[in-house]
Amino acid sequence: MDKFHIVGGKTLEGRVAISGAKNAALPAMAAALLTSEPVELANVPRVRDIGTMRSLLDELGVDSSIAHEEYGIRLRIEARQLLSPLAPYELVKQMRASVLVLGPLLARFGRAQVSLPGGCAIGARPINLHIQGLERLGAQIRIEHGYVKATTDGLKGALFAFDTVSVTGTENLMMAATLAEGETVLENAAREPEVTDLARLLNKMGASVEGAGTETLRIRGVAKLHGASHTIIPDRIEAATFLVAAAMTHGCITLERVEPGHLTAVVAKLAEAGVNVTADSSGQGKSEQASLQVTGPTTLRAADVTTGEYPGFPTDVQAQYMALMTQAEGSSVITETIFENRFLHALELMRMGADIRVEGRHAHVRGRTPLSGAKVQASDLRASASLVLAGLAAEGETLVDRVYHIDRGYERIEEKLTRLGASIRRISEA
Ligand code: EPZ
Repeated sequence: MDKFHIVGGKTLEGRVAISGAKNAALPAMAAALLTSEPVELANVPRVRDIGTMRSLLDELGVDSSIAHEEYGIRLRIEARQLLSPLAPYELVKQMRASVLVLGPLLARFGRAQVSLPGGCAIGARPINLHIQGLERLGAQIRIEHGYVKATTDGLKGALFAFDTVSVTGTENLMMAATLAEGETVLENAAREPEVTDLARLLNKMGASVEGAGTETLRIRGVAKLHGASHTIIPDRIEAATFLVAAAMTHGCITLERVEPGHLTAVVAKLAEAGVNVTADSSGQGKSEQASLQVTGPTTLRAADVTTGEYPGFPTDVQAQYMALMTQAEGSSVITETIFENRFLHALELMRMGADIRVEGRHAHVRGRTPLSGAKVQASDLRASASLVLAGLAAEGETLVDRVYHIDRGYERIEEKLTRLGASIRRISEA
């Protein structure tokens, strides 16, 4: 398993291009199952989960090809036919987002067998709402031997209200509804930018999805969808991670190819902590997207945060923010409302010298505590990022183990950080 070796204390300076959003690319790849015509996706990030989703499409008998571009990869997916409706456990356990093929397979082919994803480090992660919603649309679903076995002789539009806001639940049902007979209304739908980006792609493919970005989606079913080309939105979580990296190293970096509108809650919270983030027009025109400049202050202020569904503060930035708060003057309370067990990174940060007390959904951080480099272990994608950030700010050397977690969602993070002046290198082990 690969490790990262980091020598802390370097100040980050320079420019970094933010990659396309993994959590927008994954549902977009699943959406390609809804048509027999080619779907082209640009600005897809070179991350492990994309490779896993390609393997899953391959298992289903769906061709996909890639072209490497200046920024990320261009994917071409052509689901002319389905060789198998089976999403096997071996792939689904690697990546829960595999569940996103359930809705499209049912809608297009009338059958799907998708392994239950099982829990993960941050929580039980059930998919009961995905299943309830598909049943409401007329699917017959059995759970057998760890698999969701679903069939339908034609989905029919319906009203479905989510008990809990679910990002992939909303995406699964939205995709299924595009080919259902009649109108579907999804209430208490997720409003994340990745959901909106998927709706934009589906409409380009001939679907009729209204209300994306609001809590009520209206989807009028159509008989067929056609191919389309689409550019994946920037990754707001990667962007937030680099904003925190600059803040923790008192650096000054410019993030290129970002969508500032997706980072409002994060930028506001960082401002409260004394981190200055401004739109940077100097690079405007070179890339079709905006840039943000961030300057890490000499003194960081403690500021409480509570995670929430979009447009609230993202749960996927909570771990990175906790690392930041260990360097802030004063005490802060971090409240995690989305997942029941998303403080595993606190234990590793404490080994580096952080003063954190976890009580249920709250983590009490007392800063500022100097961090000292240590051997630490990643547990999930965003926890790993927070350990890298801590290593950048720590005195001495840090060894982050199991960085395959990071590779799932960050495109060559060690190369991007090195170009910004960090001392970080990958140690590849068989
Ligand atoms: C998506 O996961 C993201 N993954 C996660 O990012 C992100 O943390 C999460 O949304 C919240 O923003 C992708 O988009 C691929 P949920 P998802 O369904 O859809 C409960 C990362 O780091 N729930 O919105 O699986 C669930 O237990 C990953 O890239 C049910 O109870 O999350 C959780 O408490 C980590 N029943 C809450 O809803 C269901 O059927 C939100 O989960 C579905 C969800």
